[in-house]
Amino acid sequence: MDDEKTPQAPAADPSGPEVPGLDPNVPNVARIYDYYLGGKDNFAADRARAEEMMRLPGTVQAARNNRAFLRRVVHVLATEGIRQFLDIGAGLPTQENVHQIAERVDPASRTVYVDFDPVVAVHAQALLATNDTTIAVTGDARDPEGIFGNPEVREHLDLEKPVAVLLVALTHFLSDEQVENLVAHVRRHVPSGSYLVVTQMFPGDRAELVQKAVAIYSGTNSGPLVGRDAKQIAAWFEGMEMLEPGIVRVERWRPLLQDSEGLAEVDEGAPGILGAVGRFP
Ligand SMILES: C[S@@+](CC[C@H](N)C(=O)[O-])C[C@H]1O[C@@H](n2cnc3c(N)ncnc32)[C@H](O)[C@@H]1O
Repeated sequence: MDDEKTPQAPAADPSGPEVPGLDPNVPNVARIYDYYLGGKDNFAADRARAEEMMRLPGTVQAARNNRAFLRRVVHVLATEGIRQFLDIGAGLPTQENVHQIAERVDPASRTVYVDFDPVVAVHAQALLATNDTTIAVTGDARDPEGIFGNPEVREHLDLEKPVAVLLVALTHFLSDEQVENLVAHVRRHVPSGSYLVVTQMFPGDRAELVQKAVAIYSGTNSGPLVGRDAKQIAAWFEGMEMLEPGIVRVERWRPLLQDSEGLAEVDEGAPGILGAVGRFP
Protein backbone atom coordinates (compact mmCIF):
# COMPACT_ATOMS: atom_id res chain seq x y z
CA MET A 1 0.00 0.00 0.00
CA ASP A 2 1.63 3.28 -1.03
CA ASP A 3 -0.52 6.09 0.34
CA GLU A 4 2.18 8.74 -0.23
CA LYS A 5 1.49 8.40 -3.95
CA THR A 6 -2.26 7.97 -3.55
CA PRO A 7 -3.37 10.30 -0.73
CA GLN A 8 -7.05 9.79 -1.60
CA ALA A 9 -6.44 6.06 -1.89
CA PRO A 10 -9.82 4.37 -2.34
CA ALA A 11 -8.38 0.87 -1.99
CA ALA A 12 -6.48 -0.79 0.85
CA ASP A 13 -3.81 -1.76 -1.63
CA PRO A 14 -3.33 -0.05 -4.99
CA SER A 15 -3.16 -3.49 -6.57
CA GLY A 16 -5.85 -4.87 -4.26
CA PRO A 17 -9.64 -4.70 -4.18
CA GLU A 18 -11.66 -1.48 -3.94
CA VAL A 19 -13.01 -0.73 -0.48
CA PRO A 20 -15.85 1.84 -0.38
CA GLY A 21 -15.56 4.41 2.39
CA LEU A 22 -12.07 3.45 3.46
CA ASP A 23 -10.41 6.29 5.44
CA PRO A 24 -6.63 5.83 5.39
CA ASN A 25 -6.22 8.61 7.98
CA VAL A 26 -7.88 6.76 10.85
CA PRO A 27 -5.41 4.32 12.42
CA ASN A 28 -6.87 0.87 12.07
CA VAL A 29 -6.16 -2.05 14.43
CA ALA A 30 -6.24 -4.67 11.66
CA ARG A 31 -3.69 -2.74 9.61
CA ILE A 32 -1.50 -1.92 12.66
CA TYR A 33 -1.34 -5.64 13.43
CA ASP A 34 -0.64 -6.37 9.75
CA TYR A 35 2.38 -4.03 10.02
CA TYR A 36 3.69 -5.86 13.14
CA LEU A 37 3.54 -9.09 11.13
CA GLY A 38 5.49 -7.57 8.22
CA GLY A 39 2.41 -7.12 5.97
CA LYS A 40 1.97 -4.41 3.33
CA ASP A 41 -1.74 -3.65 3.80
CA ASN A 42 -1.27 -0.52 5.88
CA PHE A 43 -1.19 3.27 5.52
CA ALA A 44 1.04 5.99 7.06
CA ALA A 45 -1.44 6.58 9.93
CA ASP A 46 -1.33 2.87 10.80
CA ARG A 47 2.43 2.67 10.52
CA ALA A 48 2.91 5.72 12.76
CA ARG A 49 0.90 4.06 15.59
CA ALA A 50 2.57 0.72 14.97
CA GLU A 51 6.03 2.30 15.12
CA GLU A 52 5.12 3.95 18.44
CA MET A 53 3.97 0.57 19.80
CA MET A 54 7.13 -1.07 18.49
CA ARG A 55 9.20 1.28 20.64
CA LEU A 56 7.65 -0.53 23.63
CA PRO A 57 9.57 -3.76 24.28
CA GLY A 58 8.12 -7.01 23.02
CA THR A 59 5.38 -5.71 20.68
CA VAL A 60 6.39 -7.48 17.48
CA GLN A 61 7.30 -10.69 19.31
CA ALA A 62 3.89 -10.65 21.05
CA ALA A 63 2.12 -10.34 17.66
CA ARG A 64 4.18 -13.15 16.19
CA ASN A 65 3.63 -15.32 19.27
CA ASN A 66 -0.10 -14.71 19.01
CA ARG A 67 -0.20 -15.69 15.35
CA ALA A 68 1.94 -18.79 16.00
CA PHE A 69 -0.48 -19.82 18.79
CA LEU A 70 -3.39 -19.46 16.37
CA ARG A 71 -1.67 -21.71 13.83
CA ARG A 72 -0.87 -24.38 16.44
CA VAL A 73 -4.38 -24.36 17.91
CA VAL A 74 -6.09 -24.68 14.52
CA HIS A 75 -3.82 -27.59 13.66
CA VAL A 76 -4.48 -29.28 17.03
CA LEU A 77 -8.27 -28.84 16.74
CA ALA A 78 -8.34 -30.01 13.12
CA THR A 79 -6.35 -33.05 14.18
CA GLU A 80 -8.92 -33.62 16.96
CA GLY A 81 -11.59 -33.79 14.24
CA ILE A 82 -12.94 -30.23 14.13
CA ARG A 83 -14.05 -29.38 10.60
CA GLN A 84 -15.71 -26.00 11.14
CA PHE A 85 -14.04 -22.74 12.21
CA LEU A 86 -15.72 -19.44 13.05
CA ASP A 87 -12.99 -16.82 13.30
CA ILE A 88 -14.35 -13.60 14.83
CA GLY A 89 -11.98 -10.60 14.57
CA ALA A 90 -10.16 -12.52 11.85
CA GLY A 91 -7.86 -9.70 10.72
CA LEU A 92 -6.32 -9.13 7.31
CA PRO A 93 -5.25 -12.24 5.45
CA THR A 94 -1.63 -13.07 6.14
CA GLN A 95 0.52 -16.14 5.61
CA GLU A 96 -0.94 -19.39 6.93
CA ASN A 97 -4.55 -18.39 7.42
CA VAL A 98 -6.97 -20.50 9.45
CA HIS A 99 -8.65 -22.13 6.43
CA GLN A 100 -5.30 -23.11 4.94
CA ILE A 101 -4.16 -24.87 8.11
CA ALA A 102 -7.52 -26.58 8.58
CA GLU A 103 -7.70 -27.66 4.94
CA ARG A 104 -4.25 -29.20 5.14
CA VAL A 105 -5.73 -31.65 7.64
CA ASP A 106 -9.00 -32.05 5.72
CA PRO A 107 -9.68 -30.17 2.45
CA ALA A 108 -13.41 -30.25 3.25
CA SER A 109 -12.96 -28.12 6.41
CA ARG A 110 -15.18 -25.05 6.44
CA THR A 111 -14.17 -21.62 7.71
CA VAL A 112 -16.06 -18.38 8.22
CA TYR A 113 -14.05 -15.21 8.75
CA VAL A 114 -15.86 -12.38 10.53
CA ASP A 115 -14.53 -8.89 11.11
CA PHE A 116 -16.20 -5.54 11.68
CA ASP A 117 -13.70 -3.90 9.36
CA PRO A 118 -14.96 -3.86 5.74
CA VAL A 119 -11.35 -3.75 4.50
CA VAL A 120 -10.74 -7.17 6.05
CA ALA A 121 -13.83 -8.70 4.45
CA VAL A 122 -12.98 -7.30 1.01
CA HIS A 123 -9.39 -8.54 1.15
CA ALA A 124 -10.44 -11.95 2.42
CA GLN A 125 -13.14 -12.24 -0.26
CA ALA A 126 -10.53 -11.46 -2.94
CA LEU A 127 -8.22 -14.11 -1.54
CA LEU A 128 -11.06 -16.61 -1.35
CA ALA A 129 -12.52 -15.99 -4.79
CA THR A 130 -11.77 -19.55 -5.83
CA ASN A 131 -12.41 -21.25 -2.51
CA ASP A 132 -15.83 -22.86 -1.87
CA THR A 133 -15.14 -23.98 1.68
CA THR A 134 -14.38 -20.56 3.17
CA ILE A 135 -16.30 -17.28 3.32
CA ALA A 136 -15.64 -13.86 4.81
CA VAL A 137 -18.43 -11.65 6.15
CA THR A 138 -18.66 -8.33 7.93
CA GLY A 139 -19.93 -8.69 11.49
CA ASP A 140 -19.46 -7.01 14.84
CA ALA A 141 -18.50 -8.96 17.97
CA ARG A 142 -20.57 -6.44 19.93
CA ASP A 143 -23.61 -7.77 18.07
CA PRO A 144 -23.19 -11.56 18.30
CA GLU A 145 -26.83 -12.16 17.33
CA GLY A 146 -26.03 -10.41 14.05
CA ILE A 147 -23.17 -12.88 13.48
CA PHE A 148 -25.04 -16.06 14.45
CA GLY A 149 -28.18 -14.85 12.70
CA ASN A 150 -26.35 -14.00 9.48
CA PRO A 151 -27.87 -16.27 6.77
CA GLU A 152 -24.47 -16.63 5.05
CA VAL A 153 -22.90 -17.87 8.28
CA ARG A 154 -25.80 -20.25 8.95
CA GLU A 155 -25.67 -21.59 5.44
CA HIS A 156 -21.94 -22.13 5.48
CA LEU A 157 -21.65 -23.74 8.93
CA ASP A 158 -23.76 -26.56 10.31
CA LEU A 159 -24.38 -25.36 13.85
CA GLU A 160 -25.64 -28.83 14.81
CA LYS A 161 -22.05 -30.01 14.48
CA PRO A 162 -19.01 -28.92 16.54
CA VAL A 163 -17.39 -25.63 15.65
CA ALA A 164 -14.20 -24.00 16.88
CA VAL A 165 -14.97 -20.36 17.68
CA LEU A 166 -11.83 -18.24 17.55
CA LEU A 167 -11.65 -14.94 19.47
CA VAL A 168 -7.97 -14.35 18.88
CA ALA A 169 -6.50 -10.95 19.82
CA LEU A 170 -10.07 -9.60 19.84
CA THR A 171 -11.33 -9.41 23.43
CA HIS A 172 -8.91 -6.64 24.47
CA PHE A 173 -10.87 -4.36 22.11
CA LEU A 174 -14.14 -5.17 23.94
CA SER A 175 -15.54 -4.21 27.36
CA ASP A 176 -16.17 -6.91 30.00
CA GLU A 177 -19.89 -6.74 29.24
CA GLN A 178 -19.34 -7.11 25.51
CA VAL A 179 -17.09 -10.16 25.93
CA GLU A 180 -19.53 -11.78 28.38
CA ASN A 181 -22.39 -11.21 25.97
CA LEU A 182 -20.37 -12.61 23.06
CA VAL A 183 -19.33 -15.73 24.99
CA ALA A 184 -22.92 -16.25 26.20
CA HIS A 185 -24.11 -16.22 22.58
CA VAL A 186 -21.38 -18.62 21.52
CA ARG A 187 -22.49 -21.02 24.29
CA ARG A 188 -26.09 -20.77 23.14
CA HIS A 189 -25.37 -21.34 19.47
CA VAL A 190 -22.73 -24.08 19.30
CA PRO A 191 -23.24 -27.73 20.23
CA SER A 192 -21.40 -29.92 22.73
CA GLY A 193 -17.90 -30.80 21.57
CA SER A 194 -17.31 -27.30 20.16
CA TYR A 195 -14.30 -25.28 21.22
CA LEU A 196 -13.69 -21.71 22.35
CA VAL A 197 -10.26 -20.23 21.64
CA VAL A 198 -9.26 -16.91 23.20
CA THR A 199 -6.15 -14.77 23.28
CA GLN A 200 -6.10 -11.58 25.30
CA MET A 201 -3.51 -8.92 26.15
CA PHE A 202 -2.42 -8.95 29.82
CA PRO A 203 -0.52 -6.20 31.60
CA GLY A 204 1.94 -8.29 33.65
CA ASP A 205 3.47 -6.08 36.32
CA ARG A 206 4.32 -3.16 34.01
CA ALA A 207 1.27 -0.93 34.35
CA GLU A 208 3.16 2.06 32.92
CA LEU A 209 3.90 0.21 29.64
CA VAL A 210 0.27 -0.78 29.27
CA GLN A 211 -0.85 2.80 29.90
CA LYS A 212 1.37 3.84 27.00
CA ALA A 213 -0.12 1.12 24.79
CA VAL A 214 -3.65 2.21 25.74
CA ALA A 215 -2.78 5.80 24.80
CA ILE A 216 -1.28 4.72 21.46
CA TYR A 217 -4.38 2.67 20.59
CA SER A 218 -6.78 5.48 21.53
CA GLY A 219 -8.24 7.11 18.44
CA THR A 220 -7.97 3.94 16.37
CA ASN A 221 -11.05 2.45 14.69
CA SER A 222 -11.57 0.09 17.64
CA GLY A 223 -12.67 0.36 21.24
CA PRO A 224 -10.14 1.16 23.99
CA LEU A 225 -7.47 -1.46 24.71
CA VAL A 226 -8.30 -3.45 27.88
CA GLY A 227 -5.70 -5.62 29.64
CA ARG A 228 -6.93 -8.65 31.61
CA ASP A 229 -5.41 -11.39 33.74
CA ALA A 230 -5.87 -15.17 33.73
CA LYS A 231 -8.57 -15.04 36.41
CA GLN A 232 -10.74 -12.75 34.30
CA ILE A 233 -10.24 -14.97 31.25
CA ALA A 234 -11.08 -18.12 33.26
CA ALA A 235 -14.57 -16.75 33.93
CA TRP A 236 -15.38 -16.91 30.19
CA PHE A 237 -14.54 -20.64 30.18
CA GLU A 238 -16.65 -21.54 33.22
CA GLY A 239 -17.90 -25.15 33.06
CA MET A 240 -15.69 -25.97 30.07
CA GLU A 241 -12.93 -28.54 29.88
CA MET A 242 -9.65 -26.66 29.40
CA LEU A 243 -7.10 -28.11 27.02
CA GLU A 244 -3.64 -28.45 28.54
CA PRO A 245 -1.73 -26.38 29.56
CA GLY A 246 -4.71 -24.12 30.43
CA ILE A 247 -4.47 -20.32 30.41
CA VAL A 248 -0.85 -19.42 29.73
CA ARG A 249 1.25 -16.95 27.78
CA VAL A 250 0.59 -17.89 24.17
CA GLU A 251 4.23 -18.80 23.60
CA ARG A 252 3.92 -21.43 26.36
CA TRP A 253 0.86 -23.13 24.82
CA ARG A 254 2.26 -26.34 23.29
CA PRO A 255 5.22 -24.62 21.59
CA LEU A 256 6.68 -26.24 18.51
CA LEU A 257 10.40 -26.04 17.95
CA GLN A 258 9.99 -23.42 15.21
CA ASP A 259 7.81 -21.22 17.46
CA SER A 260 9.99 -21.47 20.56
CA GLU A 261 12.44 -18.73 19.60
CA GLY A 262 13.37 -16.80 22.75
CA LEU A 263 11.14 -18.92 24.98
CA ALA A 264 13.88 -19.53 27.57
CA GLU A 265 14.31 -15.78 28.06
CA VAL A 266 10.62 -14.94 28.56
CA ASP A 267 10.31 -12.21 31.16
CA GLU A 268 7.28 -13.41 33.13
CA GLY A 269 6.48 -9.93 34.47
CA ALA A 270 6.37 -8.35 31.03
CA PRO A 271 3.06 -7.61 29.33
CA GLY A 272 2.09 -10.16 26.73
CA ILE A 273 -0.78 -12.23 25.40
CA LEU A 274 -2.54 -15.01 27.27
CA GLY A 275 -4.12 -17.85 25.33
CA ALA A 276 -6.60 -20.58 26.23
CA VAL A 277 -8.66 -23.29 24.57
CA GLY A 278 -11.75 -24.83 26.14
CA ARG A 279 -14.18 -27.54 25.05
CA PHE A 280 -17.93 -27.13 25.55
CA PRO A 281 -19.37 -30.07 27.52
C1 LIG B 1 -5.17 -7.75 16.35
S1 LIG B 1 -6.24 -8.23 15.04
C2 LIG B 1 -6.26 -10.00 15.26
C3 LIG B 1 -6.36 -10.77 13.96
C4 LIG B 1 -6.34 -12.29 14.11
N1 LIG B 1 -7.47 -12.75 14.90
C5 LIG B 1 -5.07 -12.76 14.75
O1 LIG B 1 -5.05 -12.92 15.97
O2 LIG B 1 -4.06 -12.98 14.06
C6 LIG B 1 -7.84 -7.79 15.73
C7 LIG B 1 -8.96 -7.84 14.73
O3 LIG B 1 -10.19 -7.70 15.43
C8 LIG B 1 -11.04 -6.89 14.66
N2 LIG B 1 -12.06 -6.30 15.55
C9 LIG B 1 -11.89 -5.38 16.53
N3 LIG B 1 -13.07 -5.10 17.12
C10 LIG B 1 -14.00 -5.89 16.50
C11 LIG B 1 -15.41 -6.07 16.67
N4 LIG B 1 -16.10 -5.36 17.57
N5 LIG B 1 -16.03 -6.97 15.89
C12 LIG B 1 -15.35 -7.69 14.94
N6 LIG B 1 -14.03 -7.54 14.74
C13 LIG B 1 -13.36 -6.67 15.51
C14 LIG B 1 -10.14 -5.86 14.01
O4 LIG B 1 -10.71 -5.27 12.86
C15 LIG B 1 -8.91 -6.71 13.70
O5 LIG B 1 -9.00 -7.25 12.41
